[in-house]
Amino acid sequence: MAEFINQMEPWIDANEVDHMSEYLNSGAWLTEFKKTEEFENRIAEYTGSRFCCVVPNGTVSLAIALWAYGIGPGDEILVPDLTMIASANAVKMVGAVPVLVDIEPETLCMDLSVAKRSLTASTKGVILVTLNGRSPAMTDWRAFCTSNDLFFLEDAAQSLGSFHRGKHLGTFGEVGSFSFSAPKIITTGQGGALVTDNEGLFREIKLIKDFGRIRGGTDWHESLGYNFKFTDIQAVIGIEQMKKLPWRVARKKEIFQLYRTELGNISEIEFIPTSEETSPWFIDIFVRRRDELIEYLKKNNIGSRPLYPPIHCQKIYKRSSEKFPVAEQYCNAGLWLPSSSFLSDKQVREICRIILGFFSG
Ligand SMILES: Cc1ncc(COP(=O)(O)O)c(C=O)c1O
Repeated sequence: MAEFINQMEPWIDANEVDHMSEYLNSGAWLTEFKKTEEFENRIAEYTGSRFCCVVPNGTVSLAIALWAYGIGPGDEILVPDLTMIASANAVKMVGAVPVLVDIEPETLCMDLSVAKRSLTASTKGVILVTLNGRSPAMTDWRAFCTSNDLFFLEDAAQSLGSFHRGKHLGTFGEVGSFSFSAPKIITTGQGGALVTDNEGLFREIKLIKDFGRIRGGTDWHESLGYNFKFTDIQAVIGIEQMKKLPWRVARKKEIFQLYRTELGNISEIEFIPTSEETSPWFIDIFVRRRDELIEYLKKNNIGSRPLYPPIHCQKIYKRSSEKFPVAEQYCNAGLWLPSSSFLSDKQVREICRIILGFFSG
């Protein structure tokens, strides 16, 4: 029987093992230091950002950005109804109110026209999620935030390696946030990064991250801060993963194209258009009889995962009076197929053959 293909897996090889062994034998202190700095520099360089700060995950990174800007109780932040729940929870973490906004069908990102209608006197910012590396009209979003004096925070957790008109996602807003959790294109087990060109905000982020001090070695603190530090252990892995990123970005695009070619003629399957600058985090299809297909794939040793439910259907965000028709339509049909960048063409073709078999009955 063929081996089970997971929907997504982290990919570590001898490079990580060798560098970790070298690091651990070097008298390392394990906590964040030179390796973390090198990892941050690599992210800043790759994304074209002036500053980068790594933190424990891509949820706390969003909350840190909001705190750094001064968002707090009473403030409203616009968040898309289709996203991982962390985008909305981060707003709650700082005591502010997430206001859910429907998505646009073209990119599955937050719909700007709906966002405009959602503004109130309390709206202080936007968390624009570039879902699966796709991007809406980023300059229009920027203009909207500027003209309404809103904090523009990009949740680019799924967008490392994706660009919009030559500019890396996460760099259109005041701050961009990334995640390095296990299913991401590169991983450090857990991990997050903040990028910005704004020196003042970067300083605030650094203060919040380290107990309100700008550097270690002192127990005098200039502001309220916590401990959101990284570790050099993770950074050693992150540096090796960053070296592989350009190859993985190219491979993800090839895999997406191959799925499209192989499944393109099945009328029950819809693909969302994806620009050549997008490195899809996951291969997403929108499909009839989704739950049956998930079971069928599982029986054939293939892992898959339904797209996130809409945020407004989650227990803590339940809204019955508001309507989010586009998010509902796509969430109910969305399915993530196996998406690891190490998948071979042969494996992808085999997965597609099985999907074809399902629909041809
Ligand atoms: C859009 C989005 N935002 C935030 C997060 C949270 O990141 P983390 O799991 O690193 O906390 C994720 C994780 O998948 C995500 O997809």
